[in-house]
Amino acid sequence: MQIEKKPILISRVDEMSIFADAAREAHTELGLVPTMGALHEGHLSLIRRAARENALTVVSIFVNPIQFDNPDDLAAYPVTLEDDMKLAFASGADVVFAPSAAEMYPEGFSTFVDMTGISERLCGASRKSHFKGVLTVVNKLFCICQPTRAYFGEKDAQQLAVVRKMVSDLCMNLEIIGCPTVREKDGLAMSSRNKRLSAEERKAAVCLFRALTEAGSLFGKGERSPEKFVSAMLGVLKKEPLARVDYAELVDPDTFEPTKDVQAGDILMLAVFVGGVRLIDNSRLADIEGLTDIYHE
Ligand code: PAJ
Repeated sequence: MQIEKKPILISRVDEMSIFADAAREAHTELGLVPTMGALHEGHLSLIRRAARENALTVVSIFVNPIQFDNPDDLAAYPVTLEDDMKLAFASGADVVFAPSAAEMYPEGFSTFVDMTGISERLCGASRKSHFKGVLTVVNKLFCICQPTRAYFGEKDAQQLAVVRKMVSDLCMNLEIIGCPTVREKDGLAMSSRNKRLSAEERKAAVCLFRALTEAGSLFGKGERSPEKFVSAMLGVLKKEPLARVDYAELVDPDTFEPTKDVQAGDILMLAVFVGGVRLIDNSRLADIEGLTDIYHE
């Protein structure tokens, strides 16, 4: 069967499954980029990469209600489907899959993917059942779209790690590709939430990147005491009156537990409220000063 190549919008689960079945039967490699929409350069970098590496690229756009612990946060999430479709197709997507909540979670839906260990720390501790919601929807998207490869940003390092772990633990037959963080010129990691910052908060938000670079520079100077990295981050963040720290840690990349023996692959992890907006960012010690991150012009 010939797979249609002109850009298409699919909103029904059964239609998406039929499309994915046809791709699989035709041995066509399919790349999936799961998103919640409000697309920015960070998302587009994932879509471009998927389009380079696969014959077909599917971008899912679904604001997943079950991964939000705060109803106000869900209500405030920007919905911009028309613009998102234009951006996704211009970046190489063949299909935008945008189901409704009723399509994804019909009445009686009662099966969830849960994980112990790394999903319980950091964002998992601050936002109860967040990763349960993420893993459930990602699993469901994998079942519907049957991707050869799925693309996730390193911006959400813990999410990338829990998805990789689910794929490994449950022997799922696909490859997970981690993609570098795309940042604004001043270093702020791109995020749909940045739109909710006032002009003053936007200026203050660069404190996350400053904290990461300040702490990370210690590694190059030979520092190996984990506490020093954390206090360097907190030192920078304390100077910003609009910032309130949720967590600041240096963690082992496999367990996401606080590191005891500092290595280049360890990750500085930050979640900080700037005004009312919770922002997250991270960097491996080895990647500090943006060696592997992308700066958007
Ligand atoms: P969302 O926040 O829309 O992000 C979709 C993907 O884009 C994620 O893999 C995220 O890590 C990546 N991304 C976001 N900002 C980025 C940046 N600045 N640079 C590089 N990649 C970036 O993450 C989710 O949606 C949801 O939890 C989802 C996985 C779709 C499940 O609902």
